[in-house]
Amino acid sequence: MPMHKIIDLRSDTVTRPTPAMRQAMANAEVGDDVYREDPTVNRLQERAAEIFEREDALFVPSGTMGNQAAIKVHTDPGQEVICEARAHIYNAEMATMAAFSGCLARPIEAPDGILSWDRIAPWVRARTDNRSRTGLISLENTANLAGGSVYPAKVMEEICDQAHAAGLPVHLDGARIFNAAVALNSSVADLTQGFDSIMFCFSKSLGAPIGSMLVGSRKFIEEARSIRKMLGGGMRQAGVLAAAALVALEESPKRLHVDHENARFLAEGLAEIPGLKIDPAKIVSNILFFDVSETGMTSYDLSRRLAAQNVLANGVTPKNIRMVTHCDVDREDCARALEVMAEVVGVVRKAYSA
Ligand SMILES: Cc1ncc(COP(=O)(O)O)c(C=O)c1O
Repeated sequence: MPMHKIIDLRSDTVTRPTPAMRQAMANAEVGDDVYREDPTVNRLQERAAEIFEREDALFVPSGTMGNQAAIKVHTDPGQEVICEARAHIYNAEMATMAAFSGCLARPIEAPDGILSWDRIAPWVRARTDNRSRTGLISLENTANLAGGSVYPAKVMEEICDQAHAAGLPVHLDGARIFNAAVALNSSVADLTQGFDSIMFCFSKSLGAPIGSMLVGSRKFIEEARSIRKMLGGGMRQAGVLAAAALVALEESPKRLHVDHENARFLAEGLAEIPGLKIDPAKIVSNILFFDVSETGMTSYDLSRRLAAQNVLANGVTPKNIRMVTHCDVDREDCARALEVMAEVVGVVRKAYSA
């Protein structure tokens, strides 16, 4: 059997820098960014602020640092941060909101990871004599662990308006906000205008090797700059990273629709494989989750068998596998992944029914 190339569907973080990014990195003008003297970082921050129609922006090494710096700026110790139960800030950021900001997550379950003001309102608390006060509401768009689902613009708008009326700030974990904008045929500026702070990532679907951005008011960004330093995120000649991020920011949003089409193609193919459960109509961005429990294998078993044939996809729970499309997998790779999946699942099902 011919050996196929590795098709890596574990995450959109696995992409390699494009030749244009490498070229930009090699040629980047640099300076010491802690002195605010790196011209490429400055250009990237200005461009991000311009695209999001905000006063200022701050380049940070990771999405986690961006989110957690924002939480620190917006809250006081002892407060609660309202988020959806599958939120990245709650499930996948090492409990930093507790360890660093002294905050308690108030996770609320919502269908497809999409909160509404009706679900949030009962949990918003002013100071009482025995319960902690709400300090922040954080939304995630797209919602990674909920299958890349997308908040309708009106729902976000209502949450932001009502939160502000209650005196609460709202942060957006927009690691993949450009995917949401493509899915909604909108602009990131329009989609995010109600938020007090926004974090987005260059190193996910935009395909850059490293980096994320915080966007907001000048005052918020000044505060976040101090927190970034506190966390060890003050970088020096970071222009080599910002150069790749600039290419990603200008070029990658134009091609995200391809990843979305490939994700839908994968979902439609998976839905046809007996033993796998997925509703292709729910796949609106570049992330898909499917249930493998009827194959007779755990997700971990199945992903090991796929890996043996050079198709990589992570088991996220014992029943569920996640696949993520990105710029380093094309339609042909997705077709090959489906072929391997059908073969692996088919062999095991046959063994079970024999
Ligand atoms: C929705 C979301 N937010 C935040 C992050 C954190 O980003 P990083 O891995 O750069 O810390 C991720 C990472 O996958 C994510 O999916």
